[in-house]
Amino acid sequence: MLSYENKVILAPMVRIGTLPMRLLALRYGADIVYSEELIDWKFLRSKRRYNDILNTTDFVDQTDGTIIFRTCSEEKNKVVLQLGTCSAERALKVAKLVENDVAAIDINMGCPKEFSIKGGMGVALLQDLDKACCILKTLVDNLSIPVTCKIRIFETPEKTYEVVKKLVSTGIKAIAIHGRTRDERPQHAVHTDIIRYIAERISIPVIANGGSKEIEKYNDILKFKEITGCKSVMLARAAEWNCSIFRKDGMLPMDTVITDYLKLSVDYDNSPSNTKYCIQNILRELQETPRGRKFLECQTLEQICALWDLDKYCQEKQSLYQKMGIQGRWQVHP
Ligand code: FNR
Repeated sequence: MLSYENKVILAPMVRIGTLPMRLLALRYGADIVYSEELIDWKFLRSKRRYNDILNTTDFVDQTDGTIIFRTCSEEKNKVVLQLGTCSAERALKVAKLVENDVAAIDINMGCPKEFSIKGGMGVALLQDLDKACCILKTLVDNLSIPVTCKIRIFETPEKTYEVVKKLVSTGIKAIAIHGRTRDERPQHAVHTDIIRYIAERISIPVIANGGSKEIEKYNDILKFKEITGCKSVMLARAAEWNCSIFRKDGMLPMDTVITDYLKLSVDYDNSPSNTKYCIQNILRELQETPRGRKFLECQTLEQICALWDLDKYCQEKQSLYQKMGIQGRWQVHP
């Protein structure tokens, strides 16, 4: 059973948290990795299929054959599937589909985007606590794996505590707290005092989140843990920018991280568009350099790989996969 004590965790991130990035985070030293948020009704269009060429378990969209979620044995005991949902019934259906393939289920109660709020998902659930608790309780009562949720704080520690207490009463195993309110944006300071207030008062592990702006090296993760008084820490942007932040032995240069990431993308037949998106978020302002501009023109994995001297690696793997008759290519994203 997954433990949430003393863990450093890759946060859920739409489009970033697909299989290659999750494996990279684990290989660099992350203890737990969250999937990107997957929307329940989209997931329910998929069928589970074992891919014996890649040795992955794929959830394949029945309407267009794209891959909604790809996972493999290397991450089985460490991957948490994050769901976007407003329905206990649908959430349970999805959770039952993946129960034997993932280590835990997390419900997103922090997303402030219009798409989520309009659908009654994400942070909207914190305004409808009966529904939020019903979703969590239904999952807790019917699953053999841990259930958690990820929330944002309210304006005061007292109000936040009141909400957290209710959520915790459902039997969840841990709670991730992003130390910003629903109206605050990533550039705002993170309220470590409110996270700490909660961590001091509840019995299940609190996972501190929101510290990436101040996290530039491994030691800063430990500092954030100390300041927030939490059992564990979850990183989003710091890992998006340089996933080797999880290494206890120090961070690696950007090109090494991109090379490691690209190999995993090729190994797991990740879509070129998703691979490109993740690398863009590593390169950031370096997209303006001559190599960055060349990169932006790339359309295939092989073209991207060539910029990091991995064209041969890519060609060999891809031609092997083609010979083996690979099917079910590439994830779609909202
Ligand atoms: C996010 N975040 C997010 N949160 C969530 O619960 N589910 C998700 O799918 C996403 N997607 C996502 C994508 C990207 C690109 C970013 C940068 C962020 C929010 C994220 O998990 C985290 O709560 C915040 O980024 C704050 O943590 P950091 O970045 O300070 O470590």
